[in-house]
Amino acid sequence: MSLQVVILAAGQGKRMCSTLPKVLHPLAGRPLLKHVLDTARALYPEKLVVVYGYGGQQVQSAFSNQTDIFWVEQSEQQGTGHAVQQALPHLEGKGVTLVLYGDVPLISPTTLMHLYKTAQGAKTLALLTNTLKDPTGYGRIVRDDQNHVIRIVEHQDATVDEKTICEINTGLFATSTVALGEWLSELKNNNAQGEYYLTDIIELAVRDGFTVHSIQPRTHWEAEGANDPIQLAQLERYYQQEQAHFLLKSGVQLADPNRIDIRGIISHGQDVYIDVNCVFEGQVQLGNHVSIGANCVLKNVSLGDHVIIHPFCHLEDAEIGPRSLVGPYARLRPGTRLAAEVQIGNFVEIKKATIGPNSKVNHLTYIGDTLIGNHVNIGAGTITCNYDGINKSQTTIGDHAFIGSNTSLVAPVTIGAGATVGAGSVITRSVPDGQLSLTRSEQKTLPGWIRPKK
Ligand code: UD1
Ligand code: CA
Repeated sequence: MSLQVVILAAGQGKRMCSTLPKVLHPLAGRPLLKHVLDTARALYPEKLVVVYGYGGQQVQSAFSNQTDIFWVEQSEQQGTGHAVQQALPHLEGKGVTLVLYGDVPLISPTTLMHLYKTAQGAKTLALLTNTLKDPTGYGRIVRDDQNHVIRIVEHQDATVDEKTICEINTGLFATSTVALGEWLSELKNNNAQGEYYLTDIIELAVRDGFTVHSIQPRTHWEAEGANDPIQLAQLERYYQQEQAHFLLKSGVQLADPNRIDIRGIISHGQDVYIDVNCVFEGQVQLGNHVSIGANCVLKNVSLGDHVIIHPFCHLEDAEIGPRSLVGPYARLRPGTRLAAEVQIGNFVEIKKATIGPNSKVNHLTYIGDTLIGNHVNIGAGTITCNYDGINKSQTTIGDHAFIGSNTSLVAPVTIGAGATVGAGSVITRSVPDGQLSLTRSEQKTLPGWIRPKK
């Protein structure tokens, strides 16, 4: 049976106390709405509708490259029922419609599939409910004496007795698209909030002989919303704990599963060790026996087998060959390619550079737009002067070259294979293979000079 998904994302989210529309707040580095969209996509819906309103332009442009989204505007937020009404004319009158919230980001595909499958039964509405110790604020699930769901009452409209019900409405449900359309047209806003409540359809469904199946999420947090910064931070922790457990279960050793942040996808080999406070973004590949020190940020990087990243390193769009050592305190910027057994030491910045096997750049150096061969030694404080204010130029350093400390290599320039550059040089012309080049003014000593006295 065909599936259409409607995601409600028009609310401002006042309690976030932010100018950013709520559904654009990031969880694990991605907007809340992105999580919901990706999970919905796992069910291959025929139509994916997002009801937007507050901050509309901003919300739409954040997803401008996702052409499968059908945007529907709700210009005035008159309630959840009113929001789905806006989507209705754009739905095909068949199959099942699944309603999701843009601010319930951690809902799992398994649970959604369960709702969808259940709703395929004749005259069935599948409703996701949760049992909470403190149900304050939520719509309550009201059941008859045979324990059948008969309606939902909103907190503001509930009697004292109804407020003691701990089973709450998560807001997510699936049912027949045609029936949904009929019930929506009957909604009224004569309630405590003067809104068109989506929740009122439950009573109408029961009237029409529908069975309301209540389904529970696998974990309580899966169906929780991010309504304020505290809830958002809690959901972030649940998400990160789950990611950390996936890693632990597949053999990655984490110094502390509570101190790792995964905002992308990690793939890894065996015997990987990750120390505390590391952040992973984008696609990160870790080979066998990789070790990552404390406080590192890795974004879109791939590390070969036996690579060691010492503490406090920042790596982005970089490829590190096997048995290479990086850091502590190294910054590898986009376009860094290290071959096998390369050593990058402290306070070294590398950008758009390829470094051949067994070469060393150990201290206080900037290497940009550079091609370095194998077994090269770059002395402390070497700078490739790759930028003249307008153009970027290339530096090439041949195999087995040795660059003395505190050298400026003014690009474009080539250092030959086996060449040596004396410390403190400013190199502006090519250095031939196997030769020593240096630029240095003569050292003087002034005989009899006396330091001035007070
Ligand atoms: C709603 C439910 C309540 C449930 C709770 C779960 C109703 C009437 N109540 O309450 O039973 O326990 O969710 O969190 O449905 N939205 C729009 N347009 C609107 C109003 C809301 O798009 O006009 C969107 C919001 O952006 C949000 C979602 O709908 O993603 C839920 O809205 P919210 O105001 O948080 O609903 P609650 O009143 O908390
Ligand atoms: Ca809410």
